[in-house]
Amino acid sequence: MEHCALDGFYSPAQRSRFWDAVNKRRSVRSYRNGPDVAQLSALNFAAVRLCLPGVRIEMGEMDPELLFRHLPIVGGISGTDRFAAIIADESVPRAALHAGISGEAFILEATSLGLGTCWVASFRRKELMLPLKEQEKALAITPIGISNEVNAGRKRKKLTEICVGDPAAWPLWAYHAAECVRQAPSAVNMQPWKLSYAGHTLMLLKGGMSASPLDMGIALLHMSLGLGETPHQIHWGEGKEIASLITEDEA
Ligand SMILES: Cc1cc2nc3c(=O)[nH]c(=O)nc-3n(C[C@H](O)[C@H](O)[C@H](O)COP(=O)(O)O)c2cc1C
Repeated sequence: MEHCALDGFYSPAQRSRFWDAVNKRRSVRSYRNGPDVAQLSALNFAAVRLCLPGVRIEMGEMDPELLFRHLPIVGGISGTDRFAAIIADESVPRAALHAGISGEAFILEATSLGLGTCWVASFRRKELMLPLKEQEKALAITPIGISNEVNAGRKRKKLTEICVGDPAAWPLWAYHAAECVRQAPSAVNMQPWKLSYAGHTLMLLKGGMSASPLDMGIALLHMSLGLGETPHQIHWGEGKEIASLITEDEA
């Protein structure tokens, strides 16, 4: 089983901050303002610290009208010219999954600083004024700023719809991990994941054709955060099986 780079990568203090932010984070598309100087410097520091191998997060400034598309139903992004780009080096194994993990860690860090964000994969790539190396691709960007939105409710599938079997019969740690995955953001809110539990092991599986590496990386970070302080190991899987989370704790 191949060791997953997420395993032990974030400190207990970082994990606890991310976990607190999971329930506060929502996609924000309308902003009152950009981040202040203190928030910007904390984010610049986070962008360097939080990246797994093959990923870098670059902050920039840009007219949101040029960079972001207007999408049906959700509309466009307005009110801040600050953004961060989540960039993967495609020559590094599993860089796109690492980008989902690192990008979500960055977004949760921004949430804990009181900032709004929104994963955006549909944007005008030629307008992104950031130098990229030949093998690099900007997989997603996020606007960053002070939210101008009322915190609306969150539409999610029922836990039983994303679990194989009955999660109420699972140990508490596995139930909490599944619940934390349920809160994760995904492209077009497809929630394209499944969780399956058997003997100390919780497995994250692709739940459909729409499951992108970014979606699955985000879900994997949430799955690990849901365990809180319960010690666990994470191993990569193959094919539809993205990763397994293994613990000795049956509590
Ligand atoms: C990988 C990914 C790509 C996304 N791309 C876009 C996008 O291009 N435009 C957009 O407005 N929202 C985008 N979103 C935001 C989702 O629509 C949003 O996360 C989902 O509807 C759940 O809502 P929540 O984030 O408020 O929990 C994306 C989310 C993810 C995870």
